[in-house]
Amino acid sequence: MSTASGASESVEGGYDRTVRGRYYDLLFAGKDYAADGATLRTLLNAENPTAATLLDIGCATGRHLEHLRDEFDVSGLDLSAELIAQARGRLPGVPLHVADMRDFNLGQTFDVVTCLMAVIGYALTLSDLQRSIQNMTKHLSPDGVLIVEPWLLPDSFIDGRVVHNVVGQPELAVSSMYVQRRVGDICVFDIHSLVATPDEGVVYSRARQEIALFTDDEYRAAFALAGLVVRRVDPGLHGYGLYIARRQGSRASTANVNLP
Ligand SMILES: C[S@@+](CC[C@H](N)C(=O)[O-])C[C@H]1O[C@@H](n2cnc3c(N)ncnc32)[C@H](O)[C@@H]1O
Repeated sequence: MSTASGASESVEGGYDRTVRGRYYDLLFAGKDYAADGATLRTLLNAENPTAATLLDIGCATGRHLEHLRDEFDVSGLDLSAELIAQARGRLPGVPLHVADMRDFNLGQTFDVVTCLMAVIGYALTLSDLQRSIQNMTKHLSPDGVLIVEPWLLPDSFIDGRVVHNVVGQPELAVSSMYVQRRVGDICVFDIHSLVATPDEGVVYSRARQEIALFTDDEYRAAFALAGLVVRRVDPGLHGYGLYIARRQGSRASTANVNLP
C-alpha cells in the first residue's frame, strides 16, 4: 500500500496489505457465491457423483467453500495470508493453507480441485500457467475433476474499462477504482483507494494488480501438457467460461450439464 505520495506498490497476488484485501468481502458483497455454489454442486454431481473431497485454489476469504462444505470435505489455499486469516474466521475447522498455486505441495489428492474467478490469470507467464496446472493435477485423485474458471480471453478484454467498487457504512466508507489497461498480454490494474474511518480519517492508498490474458489454445495446451483431457463450457459461472478437465483414461463423464 502506498502513502499520499501516490507511489504504487505491487504486491504479489495483489491482495495482502491492500485495501482490496482488507475489505474484500465488503467490496465484493454483490457477488452471488450462493448461486455459484449451487451451480458447482449441480455440475460436480453430474461430473463425479462419488466425489467427497474438494480443494479450492485461490479461495480468498472462503466464500465458495462456504457453499460447498455441506456436500464436500473442503480445503482451501491462497497466496494471501490476510485473506486466509479471514477465511479461517468464516470456516473454523476447515484446512486452509497459505501457499502459491505454482508450487504448493499438500501431500494429498482431492476428488475435485477448483480454481475460480480468474485466479489462474495471476500465473503471469506461460510457464507459470503450465506449472500451476501441473501442480493442480498432482493433487487430483485418479478420477478427480479439475475445474478452472479462466480470466478473459485476449479478444474480449476492453482496454479502458472503468471499475469502481464502493462500501458505504455509517463508520466506514471505501471507494476503490481503476481503469483496466492492457500492456502486451497482461492486464494492469493501477488501483486507487480512499478509506474513511472515525479513527484514521480519510486515507489514500494505491496498489497494482496484474493478470495475464491467456488464449484458449494456451489454456488447452497447459491441460494437455499435464496429461488431462479438457472441455470448455460457456458461459460458465460469470461469462468467462469454465474448463473441466480430468486425467486421460479416467472414468469419462457422461454428463451434459446446462449451466444457467
Ligand atoms: C479475484 S480473487 C478470486 C478469489 C476467489 N476465488 C473468489 O472467487 O472470490 C484472486 C485470488 O487469487 C489469489 N492468488 C493470486 N495469486 C495466487 C497464487 N500464485 N497462488 C494462489 N492464490 C493466488 C489472490 O490472493 C486472491 O485471493
